[in-house]
Amino acid sequence: MKKRILVTGGTGYIGSHTVVELIENDYEVVIIDNLYNSDAETAKRIGKITGTTPHLEVFDLCDGKKLNKFLDKTENISAIIHFAAFKAVGESVNKPLDYYRNNLISLMNLLDAMIVHQIPSIVFSSSCTVYGQPEKLPVTEHTPIQPAISPYGNTKQIGEEIISDTISANHGLKAISLRYFNPIGAHPSGLIGELPRGVPENLVPFITQTAIGIRNELQVFGNDYNTPDGSCIRDYLHVVDLAKAHVAAVDRLTGDKNKKRYEVFNLGTGKGVSVFEAIESFERVSGVKLKYRITNRRPGDIEKIWADPSLANREMGWKTVYSLDEAMRSAWKWEKSIRKII
Ligand code: UD1
Repeated sequence: MKKRILVTGGTGYIGSHTVVELIENDYEVVIIDNLYNSDAETAKRIGKITGTTPHLEVFDLCDGKKLNKFLDKTENISAIIHFAAFKAVGESVNKPLDYYRNNLISLMNLLDAMIVHQIPSIVFSSSCTVYGQPEKLPVTEHTPIQPAISPYGNTKQIGEEIISDTISANHGLKAISLRYFNPIGAHPSGLIGELPRGVPENLVPFITQTAIGIRNELQVFGNDYNTPDGSCIRDYLHVVDLAKAHVAAVDRLTGDKNKKRYEVFNLGTGKGVSVFEAIESFERVSGVKLKYRITNRRPGDIEKIWADPSLANREMGWKTVYSLDEAMRSAWKWEKSIRKII
């Protein structure tokens, strides 16, 4: 019998790519999503890619009663992957209570439900933002956590602590927190990808929207950083690679080999890429000359960060396979395909 996985936020950007990989690895997927930042159509597109349309249940996880009702009739869930959360760093500064309420209550409701309904394991979407600006690079899982710069980042730190404390107190439960670096790109099919609402905050959607003519120009936030070309450095990983890491995490949690009850893994390529290098990669694969302008630094930006992914490589047998160029090519294909459809 196939193992059943509950994916919250499964119609979102990383969630939808993960659902594809789970189905392709013979898991049965049930999605809960409130469609706040996504579309029910995505479930059908996942069906087009994999041949199996996942079951989509539309409600808000902050409603604990609805969650319990749903779980009363949905038995034998082997693991939860929890993506559903608000994720805009800038917005979180202006709406901190919305962020704390949404991101933390939904998580606590899920943990409560795991205890009541005997769901043994959970994978949590965390972020490299928990490291702030580290003194030493690359960052390992032992790099000290720093006070969060934004309420969004704080919800990830507090979320990890809530999980770790809950695992300590409940011996039947297991969890893995995955600290993502910068996911970019889209599924090679061109059927699913990132669809930001309004003006994108993240670099790659801004690049592709500028190239297609929706935005006038890209602003490069600062060229006076202490880096080789003066722009910030990040570890950009292809979203399909990231999605596969979730399958590895679920395999680990639901298999009987691993005895550890709570683990944390960095997910990145291990390679730092500057904003200018990202632009060059995009121009190379798209053949489009990008219009950009250097402006002031963006408040709260970190100068440079990239991962040491060796723990995930070794323990989960996971590593990135896609290049930056491949990720950019897929992001461009996706941008072109959605503009034709919408
Ligand atoms: C941040 C967080 C990440 C979080 C993500 C959610 C850190 C290190 N990373 O990513 O954990 O999940 O937000 O959104 O805290 N840039 C431009 N012009 C633009 C947009 C971006 O120059 O229009 C530059 C930024 O200055 C940065 C890089 O591109 O150097 C990447 O920015 P972005 O895509 O927003 O991601 P982070 O801020 O790294």
